[in-house]
Amino acid sequence: MLTANSLTLGRLLLALPGMLAGRRYQRRALSRELAALLQVDDSRIVLYDSGRAAFAALLQLHGVGPGDEVIVPAFTCVVVPNQVPPSGATLRFVDIQRGSLGYDWQMLDIAIRRHTRVVVVPHNFGIACEVPTWLREKHRQVRFVDDAAHGFASRCAGQWLGSYHDGAFFSFEYSKNLTGGIGGFALLPAGDYLPQPALPEVSCADQWRLLATLKAHLLSARWPLLGRIAMALLRRLRLIYRSGDHEVLDGAPHPARELPLLSAVLIRAQLARLPATLAHKQQLAARYRAMLDTLPDIAQWQAPADTHWVRYPFALPFPVVDKARLARELTAVSGLAIGVWFDDVIHPAGSFRHGYQPRSAPHAEALAASVFNLPLNINLAVDDALAHKLQRLQQALAQLLRQQKESA
Ligand SMILES: Cc1ncc(COP(=O)(O)O)c(C=O)c1O
Repeated sequence: MLTANSLTLGRLLLALPGMLAGRRYQRRALSRELAALLQVDDSRIVLYDSGRAAFAALLQLHGVGPGDEVIVPAFTCVVVPNQVPPSGATLRFVDIQRGSLGYDWQMLDIAIRRHTRVVVVPHNFGIACEVPTWLREKHRQVRFVDDAAHGFASRCAGQWLGSYHDGAFFSFEYSKNLTGGIGGFALLPAGDYLPQPALPEVSCADQWRLLATLKAHLLSARWPLLGRIAMALLRRLRLIYRSGDHEVLDGAPHPARELPLLSAVLIRAQLARLPATLAHKQQLAARYRAMLDTLPDIAQWQAPADTHWVRYPFALPFPVVDKARLARELTAVSGLAIGVWFDDVIHPAGSFRHGYQPRSAPHAEALAASVFNLPLNINLAVDDALAHKLQRLQQALAQLLRQQKESA
């Protein structure tokens, strides 16, 4: 999958000398810059090695413990629910709506119980939403925490995503809006303070693996064959940096660490060019929307104009048994890297279930079987080549829809 959405090979190389300034300097500078962008006090930004670690910290901030319940959307990445059991709280999945990719507020209202302490609010693909005031006022014991992992620098009615509920967690993992390879931060609610224990550092060896993996991702963006060869080589040498199997398959919580120095310098380099990056991605999204508009059977989602899409989602009007295969076929035909997020209510398919009962979230299950996405990556130029790729994709999708109608 095409990833490292806001980074180029050149910018990565130019950013590396910044590591000489040291990790304390770079982390402090990054916190300041994030705070300035999001128009919040520096003390509200707490950096971690991942979004999941930031989520665990917010659970701690809100005093979540035994006897409490945490509601998580039934359309999420496994590493989110993984952080709940260590708090002692119980975990409950609530379905999402197809129309918004987020909660149906009336359904959420019914789902909230006396002991519900935290509701994780999704902003899938970067589409920012706001919990209605009536719902917040009705359930004053509940803290609404934004999963902003897909929506760094998205806005909702002019407000920065993450700044208007009870805290938010963001991700800088490879595939996210800005990438540090890994990384994330918590945006604390105004007036709150999180005592930050000294966390372990990501080892030097892991930072080399991160760098090697990122380089392979970036090579794939420019020269797909070279990228595939580099990735295969790294796999063979066990140099790929990714989430541990114990987190994905066994649901283990993530031990928090500091944001790596490498990640801090890369994120700062991308932040410095954020307005141009956003403008580029919004042009890509507009092209995708225009192409998909010619296929009215395919679902798309309305989003505020200042959305920072992580990828551009679309859904077929029927379930697909083998989404990965269809994505590969569409990628081969069009030359655009088609993704499958999320391929299950708890992504990725085959990951730990956390007691999820099949069919308890029918909308999310239907969506997971039919949603695909297009890359929002600055390495993808908005030019004639893109127009040709989109034309080929349009033809392939039109043929797929025709075949489906004929066989129905
Ligand atoms: C919706 C969502 N939330 C949270 C996360 C966790 O972010 P991180 O990988 O930085 O822990 C991810 C994916 O990785 C995600 O897709």
